[in-house]
Amino acid sequence: MSRFVVTTFGCQMNKHDSTRLEEVLCGSGSELGVEHQDADVIVLNTCSVREKAEQKLRSEVGRLAKLKRCRPELLLVVAGCMAQRQGEQILKAMPAVDLVVGPDNIAELPQLIAELRLGGPPQVRTVFDLEQPRFLTAPTVTSGRATAYVTVMKGCNERCSFCIVPSTRGPERYRPSEDIVAEIAQLVVGGVREVTLLGQTVNSYRDPLAALCMAPEARADDPDESEFAALLRHICAQVPDLLRLRYTSPHPRHLTPSLIAAHRDLSIIPRHLHLPVQTGSDRMLKRMIRRHSRAEYIERVSSLQQQVDGLTVSTDIIVGFCGETEQDFEQTLSLMDEVGFVGVFGFKYSPRPDTPAIQLSDDVAGKDKDARLQRVFERSERCMGAHLDSLVGSKQQVLIEGPSKTHPENLSGRSGRFEIVHVADAEGLDLIGELVEVEIVQAYKHSLLGRLGASERGRARSSKRRRSLPLVGKGAG
Ligand code: 5AD
Repeated sequence: MSRFVVTTFGCQMNKHDSTRLEEVLCGSGSELGVEHQDADVIVLNTCSVREKAEQKLRSEVGRLAKLKRCRPELLLVVAGCMAQRQGEQILKAMPAVDLVVGPDNIAELPQLIAELRLGGPPQVRTVFDLEQPRFLTAPTVTSGRATAYVTVMKGCNERCSFCIVPSTRGPERYRPSEDIVAEIAQLVVGGVREVTLLGQTVNSYRDPLAALCMAPEARADDPDESEFAALLRHICAQVPDLLRLRYTSPHPRHLTPSLIAAHRDLSIIPRHLHLPVQTGSDRMLKRMIRRHSRAEYIERVSSLQQQVDGLTVSTDIIVGFCGETEQDFEQTLSLMDEVGFVGVFGFKYSPRPDTPAIQLSDDVAGKDKDARLQRVFERSERCMGAHLDSLVGSKQQVLIEGPSKTHPENLSGRSGRFEIVHVADAEGLDLIGELVEVEIVQAYKHSLLGRLGASERGRARSSKRRRSLPLVGKGAG
C-alpha cells in the first residue's frame, strides 16, 4: 500500500484543507505515514500570505529533493495557496516537484497521482470551481475528537491592499445551509461537541439556495438580518446537542447589529471573538482598504461587549505597512489599550505580488518593523497576562479536548471564553468531549491551570458515562 505524509504551512484554513487532503488520499486506498523517509507521496500544503512562508516551502523542497535522489519513485506534491499562485513556475523552479494542486482541486489528487504512477508527466491543476463550488466534508467517523472545523464559504471578495488571498483562493463561494447543518449534525452524532465555522471572511456568508430566510428562527421579518447570523441561529435550532459554536475569521465590516444580537441570544457561542483589525490608524486603514474606521471598529466591539457580558477580543495586527509613521503606529498601540485585546497575532508587513499595495512603497525600515512588532508583543503579553491573572480563583466551564501536550497527566481544554485550561490530576479520567466545571488555581503566560471539584472527579470516576451526556448543562460558561 502506498504511504503518504502531508506537511502544512499556514493558517487554519490550510490545516483544515490538509485534513481533507489526508481523507481524500486515505479514501483512495493510501495509508497515512508519519516520517518523510518512509513516504511514497509527500504533500506540502503551502501558504502565500507572507514571503517567509514561501521561503520555507522552497527550503523544504530543496531538502526533499535530496531524499528523492535516493528514492526516485517518491512523489512530491505542492498544494495550497502557493501552488495556486505560482502554478507552472513551481515545476520550472523546482524540478523535484511532480504535481502542483490548487486548493479547489484537492479531490482530484488521487487521480493525478494515479496518472503519474502510470508514467504521466508532471502536472499543474489550479482551477477555481467557480460554477459548481465543491466543499469537502469531514468523514462521519470523527475518531473521538471533541472539536471540528466546518467550511461555510471559501474565497474572498474584500480587496485589502496587503492581502494575497483573493488571488490564491478566488472569489467568495458559499455552501448551502442545509449541507452545513447536515455535516454538523453528523459530527455531533460522532461525538464532536464544538464546531468552528470556517471562511476567509466568514461573516459575509450568504445562503446560495436562500433556504435560511424561510427558517422560522431566522427573523426573516428583520430586513437587516445578516445571513451569517441567520445561519448561526439555524444551526443552534437544528443541532441542539452542539455545545459550542465558534467561527473564524470575521471581518469587522460584517459585524452587524443582527450578528451582535445572535451573540447575545445564543449561549453556545463562546464569549470571545477573534476580530482582525490590522492597524489602529485611520490613515493606514484607508491605505489598507479595510473599509471601516477605527471608531467603527471600537463602536462594534463595544456594542458586542455591551450585549455579551465579559466578552473578550483578540486580533491580528500588521506593523510597518507602507507609509506607517511612528504616529500611525502609536495609534495601533493606543487601540490595543482601548480595546484590551487578550491575544494578538502580530506580523511585519510583507509585500506580496498581485496585491494593490505592491504599487506602494514598502518604506518602513526592517529594524523599525522589528522594533514595532516587539512593542506590540510586549503590550499584548501584558494585557493577556493581566487577564489570565484575573481568572485565578474563578470557576470555568471547560470543554475537555484531550491530554495536555506538555503534561500528559493533565487534561486540557478551553473555557467558555476560549482560554486554554490545563486540568490537573485528571489522568485516567474519561472526560474528552465533556463540559466540566474547573476551579482555576494558577495563571501561566498563555494558559490556565485548574482543578476539578471533588464531585466532578467522583462522577467522572464512578461511571463510564456516555460521552453524549455532559457533566454540566449546556452553556458558554
Ligand atoms: N504581510 C503581513 N501580514 C499579512 N497578513 C495578511 N497579509 C499580510 C502581508 N502581506 C496577516 C493579516 C491577516 C493574517 C492572516 O495575516 O494580519 O489577518
